[in-house]
Amino acid sequence: MVKTRITKAFGAVVSFYDGYMGETGHVNAQRIIFNRLNIDGLVLDVATGTGIMVEGFDKAVGIDISMEMVKEAKKKYPDKEFVVGDIEYLPFKNDTFDFVISCLAFSWFQDKRSALEEMLRVSSEKVFVVEEEGTPVRKRIEAPDDLELFFEEIERLEMPISAEELDKSYRRVAEADIDGSHKFVAWEVKKSTDE
Ligand SMILES: C[S@@+](CC[C@H](N)C(=O)[O-])C[C@H]1O[C@@H](n2cnc3c(N)ncnc32)[C@H](O)[C@@H]1O
Repeated sequence: MVKTRITKAFGAVVSFYDGYMGETGHVNAQRIIFNRLNIDGLVLDVATGTGIMVEGFDKAVGIDISMEMVKEAKKKYPDKEFVVGDIEYLPFKNDTFDFVISCLAFSWFQDKRSALEEMLRVSSEKVFVVEEEGTPVRKRIEAPDDLELFFEEIERLEMPISAEELDKSYRRVAEADIDGSHKFVAWEVKKSTDE
């Protein structure tokens, strides 16, 4: 099952994740974007990974399908709450959070409609999805040998390009350039009746 393969692949790269993502510029770009979006109140970071984005908010909860990622996030940020769970079945009541965000994860969600509906359901204010656009990080920067297996697995899974899909339905609300060929973009996700 694809979801199991994704979970396993991420679980295996936890120890390289922060170092590599810091180098790629991804962490800074996402921080720039979230500073521009005036996010306040209680935040849920969906597919939080090692919790990099949670760190930037006073009150935030992170959720990820990989137990290894969640363990690492808890170790790094013991004062924040992290939960193991699937975006398609968020274990929270309606409107629990003010803002719900998801960074660099949309491609991985197998049932994208359920994922977005779940994010909207647990948010009382706004939902933002951030994705990369242009040449993917793994094609621009040489990865450590240990990450090669992960990237090979990604190639086999043939993840679709998220930016194109998001543009079809949602508005871009912020962007941060990494270099001329690569940037991060935030889309505000709204219920179809709100459009
Ligand atoms: C590229 S990482 C992004 C992590 C973090 N958001 C960041 O910006 O550094 C993608 C994350 O999505 C998680 N993920 C994939 N499918 C998921 C699902 N169905 N539900 C929750 N998390 C999922 C993976 O375990 C992984 O930690």
